[in-house]
Amino acid sequence: MTSSSLCATINIAIVIATLVLNFVSAFPQLEQRYASRAITLPKRTLLTNSDGTFNRDKAIVCNAATAFKYHRNLLMLQESNGGALPAGMKLIDIPRAHIQARGAWQDEESLTDENDDSEWAGMITIGQPDQKFLVDFDTFNPSLLMLAGSSDLWIPSSSCNAEACSAKHKYNTTSSYTSRNETGIFSIEYGDGSTVSGSIFSDTVTVAGVKVRNQKFSAVTNLSSIFASDPVDGVLGLGFPSNSNLSGDPFFVSAVQQNAITTKAFSFYLATNNSELYLGGTNPKWYQEPIEYHPVNKSNGFWQVKNASINVGGAKVLSNFDTIIDSGTTIMYGPPDMVKEIYAKVEGAEVFDSSEGFYSFPCDNVPKISFSWGGEKFVISSENFNLGTTSQNASTCAGALAAKDLGLGDVLLLGDSWMKNAYHVFSLEKTAVGFAKLK
Ligand SMILES: *[C@@H]1O[C@H](CO)[C@@H](O)[C@H](O)[C@H]1NC(C)=O
Ligand SMILES: *[C@@H]1O[C@H](CO)[C@@H](O)[C@H](O)[C@H]1NC(C)=O
Ligand SMILES: *[C@@H]1O[C@H](CO)[C@@H](O)[C@H](O)[C@H]1NC(C)=O
Ligand SMILES: *[C@@H]1O[C@H](CO)[C@@H](O)[C@H](O)[C@H]1NC(C)=O
Ligand SMILES: *[C@@H]1O[C@H](CO)[C@@H](O)[C@H](O)[C@H]1NC(C)=O
Ligand SMILES: *[C@@H]1O[C@H](CO)[C@@H](O)[C@H](O)[C@H]1NC(C)=O
Ligand SMILES: *[C@@H]1O[C@H](CO)[C@@H](O)[C@H](O)[C@H]1NC(C)=O
Ligand SMILES: *[C@@H]1O[C@H](CO)[C@@H](O)[C@H](O)[C@H]1NC(C)=O
Repeated sequence: MTSSSLCATINIAIVIATLVLNFVSAFPQLEQRYASRAITLPKRTLLTNSDGTFNRDKAIVCNAATAFKYHRNLLMLQESNGGALPAGMKLIDIPRAHIQARGAWQDEESLTDENDDSEWAGMITIGQPDQKFLVDFDTFNPSLLMLAGSSDLWIPSSSCNAEACSAKHKYNTTSSYTSRNETGIFSIEYGDGSTVSGSIFSDTVTVAGVKVRNQKFSAVTNLSSIFASDPVDGVLGLGFPSNSNLSGDPFFVSAVQQNAITTKAFSFYLATNNSELYLGGTNPKWYQEPIEYHPVNKSNGFWQVKNASINVGGAKVLSNFDTIIDSGTTIMYGPPDMVKEIYAKVEGAEVFDSSEGFYSFPCDNVPKISFSWGGEKFVISSENFNLGTTSQNASTCAGALAAKDLGLGDVLLLGDSWMKNAYHVFSLEKTAVGFAKLK
């Protein structure tokens, strides 16, 4: 299901920031050139309490959410792969307590802080006049990348009578004069067995100022109840085009064809404030050239980059392993043996929560950890590695790399604790991830 990134860090409140200066509209060529757009993602959830202590309870829930999500991703990968998983990957059973923790946390969050959600969601408009929808920008839900439908747009239809549709914004084809009926039925099944299906339409779709005419999408009439508690109305997939179930161009491709954007890529700048998703290229405001691109093998649906190495204090500890880049994950995870090897090189490090895989280190000596993929070394700042003191007034701090077997093999899963240290370009055109140093 789409709200899998339970412990991602970005609020659903999104400010659409138009980068194009008003005068540019008067000059079509300029408008074209600057037609990429930024979506500002204002607030982040952190695992450090305001008193500087590590929020262990929340971190445990994030662990559970990550385990749950990758369990499901691997189930789907197995299914789409004819019952087998790629070499090195295996399904890990999820302890029941973890699923319960996840549920409890969800309830608690929705009661206490409705805005503290975790999806990459933002408003889009469909039709003339505008009908508004809150959609999950499905860039980082790998489970969707590997499925038909991962690059599709769907929102509920005004003729959806399912209970799950009741509180959502619904698309009314007859009240948009640019709406057209298309042939065929859209249907996708998510990893948890939930289904979404409905008729296909085309209409004008606008995302962060990027306007696309005759975009195919589905107004769904069948929405499984699991979506009822999800704050978003639908999903706008930014996955690889081959994964469309609408037999039409995905939003990204249409946007390029219609010159609304020039490049099939989106980029993330993640920071404490002003995090940004940039559609259609990169925003030079945040990074320094060059961008170092590394190919991804899109067959398993993950943004998985090979040949990584990790250094502690300048010395190489491990090399030639794979990494998965995922902003839907809060911290960083690795298999217990790899993580143990890494912390063995950190002075004063020790396990402080063996069941959850958390390690600590002396707060006055935060390790200098860096990654490279055969090129530049990208350092994780101490602010990003240090999750806070292990208890009040303690002199040991929790590290943002935890030991957890997610079934991914010898792979480090790099979430926001990593992503905050570099600019990331997800290029569908190059089938590659680009890293660049921050300004
Ligand atoms: C991509 O991954 C698939 C499945 O893991 C594998 O069979 C294939 O050989 C890989 N392709 C390349 C070019 O590495
Ligand atoms: C859809 O819009 C039309 C025209 O505006 C309106 O008459 C109709 O009641 C709407 N249908 C629903 C289900 O809201
Ligand atoms: C388009 O489809 C909608 C709902 O599926 C239907 O109500 C409408 O009559 C159709 N319009 C045309 C012109 O066929
Ligand atoms: C909705 O999906 C369920 C599960 O796939 C299916 O059994 C049901 O027939 C569908 N309902 C409609 C109205 O398409
Ligand atoms: C979309 O998916 C459904 C269900 O898997 C399938 O029946 C249908 O043929 C697919 N449509 C396209 C255009 O791929
Ligand atoms: C982020 O924003 C908050 C609230 O506006 C402010 O207090 C804080 O100093 C900002 N942090 C940075 C690193 O700019
Ligand atoms: C892999 O990384 C090593 C450094 O650890 C580098 O020397 C090598 O060129 C890289 N290989 C590729 C194919 O990028
Ligand atoms: C932490 O230190 C503060 C100030 O010295 C003190 O008031 C507080 O009781 C201490 N907390 C614990 C848990 O020791």
